[in-house]
Amino acid sequence: MRGTQTRILIKALALIMMLVGTISSFAALACRSQPGTVNKLVIHADQGRLTISRNIYGHFAEHLGRCIYGGIWVGEDSPIPNTRGIRNDVVEALKNIKVPVLRWPGGCFADEYHWKDGIGPREERPTMINTHWGGVTENNHFGTHEFLDLCKQIGCEPYISGNVGSGTVEELSDWVEYVTFDGISPMADLRRRNGRDEPWKVRYWGIGNENWGCGGNMLPEYYADLYRRYQTYVREYPGNEIYKIACGASGDNYEWTEVLMKKVSRRAMRGLSFHYYTVFEDWSNKGSATEFDEYRWFGTLKTTRRMEDLIAEHASIMDEYDPENRIGLIIDEWGNWFDVEPGTNPGFLFQQNSLRDAMVAAINLNIFHHHCDRVQMANIAQTVNVLQAIILTEGEKMILTPTYHVFDLYKVHQDAIYLPLDLECVDYAYGDEAIPALSASASRDQAGKIHVSVCNLDPNKPAELVCEIRGFKVKSVSGQVLTAPAMNTHNTFDDPEAIRPSVFEAVEVVGDELIATLPAKSVVVLELE
Ligand code: AHR
Repeated sequence: MRGTQTRILIKALALIMMLVGTISSFAALACRSQPGTVNKLVIHADQGRLTISRNIYGHFAEHLGRCIYGGIWVGEDSPIPNTRGIRNDVVEALKNIKVPVLRWPGGCFADEYHWKDGIGPREERPTMINTHWGGVTENNHFGTHEFLDLCKQIGCEPYISGNVGSGTVEELSDWVEYVTFDGISPMADLRRRNGRDEPWKVRYWGIGNENWGCGGNMLPEYYADLYRRYQTYVREYPGNEIYKIACGASGDNYEWTEVLMKKVSRRAMRGLSFHYYTVFEDWSNKGSATEFDEYRWFGTLKTTRRMEDLIAEHASIMDEYDPENRIGLIIDEWGNWFDVEPGTNPGFLFQQNSLRDAMVAAINLNIFHHHCDRVQMANIAQTVNVLQAIILTEGEKMILTPTYHVFDLYKVHQDAIYLPLDLECVDYAYGDEAIPALSASASRDQAGKIHVSVCNLDPNKPAELVCEIRGFKVKSVSGQVLTAPAMNTHNTFDDPEAIRPSVFEAVEVVGDELIATLPAKSVVVLELE
């Protein structure tokens, strides 16, 4: 009750501040939209103090549809070029965008997965039914060793989600011992018998997934107790520091966050997860990924912008119990969820990916930047062939989606210093609704370069932007832009480069300011030196 009252008070104060026009520090979080005014961005290059964790650029690969099998794992005997069974083209693409962390094996699959079925000689591994995702038979050929090999090939950190829903404490405890213990022990010896002498380093361990739903249909109090118990046996063996992540809420389930924060100590929990998928209007009719009109373009962008308020609200609950921001909000599932492509298995969640997805990715990454004090990791769902995938494959062919290109353009923000900003912009109106037309964020990298990412959400009008950088003398500016002729432009196996970034030239330095013309429906990333 105390928490609710405090939040109401904070909201009332914020409202009063807005009314008297003194919201400059809040304005950094979003565009203050002012119809008819010029678009004006002020970047406070003299105020940066927080780092945008590279882990905000994390990914998620589940045993679901063709994400792992076909998308990542093809087996050592495949004619598709591979290294120890893992596709070379996919690894190269993931390395190129500097994937920092990869979450596996689920998702809902995690709470059905029994890791011991996925070790040892592959032909001897037992099968299981993947009941959540199409009821297909899982042969367990991609298991712990293969996943950790994948992470090594990519050069990213692994994030393993443990099974709380249908697994035991002993099972999870054994997994940590198997993977990370260097001495003589039953699990470390088993690992050695399976061909791996050295332990791996695995810092990120999730204790269950969506345990309010597919991970066991638990109530928050019950899960909080289970979390306390399971995490006790997730041991930190010498040389392997562990960052334990509790299952968090979905959407606006603030009660879940409140209970977890209240019942679990900060020593026992380093991260609390959060899931929010962008679904416009109706889960039973999510719409096509590529066949849509402006109504659905607008609706999707409006829906995705909700991420801002959801993070703010969950973070405000966390602030009450953890004012020093020691517990990270881990947004380990996010992205667009549309209807599956016609003719594909409904359980495989295969959807195409268009310019609209690129906008959604860019808007969310900007939001995560603005909350980088609390958001320590985010993992878009999912890496290959599932939901808002960055890569699609078909046999030996592979294409990069518009979402991939956003991750490529935005990788300059990884581990850079977040720069607060004020943005005043026009509205993008559709029917009798309106949202701010622009979304922006900025950072300074270790070499001192400033990167500014700006999206123009309006599919019909370019936007003139005046940008002032306080505390930084701009000598030169360059940029890249991602846009396309139509809202639904997407890459296909026949036309793999229908949409890709190009050089952005519509920007110049005028005195102490930058003046840019952002094309309609575009994502622009500027580099200032
Ligand atoms: O990403 C697909 C599914 O969405 C995940 O398995 C689950 O955690 C979420 O409901």
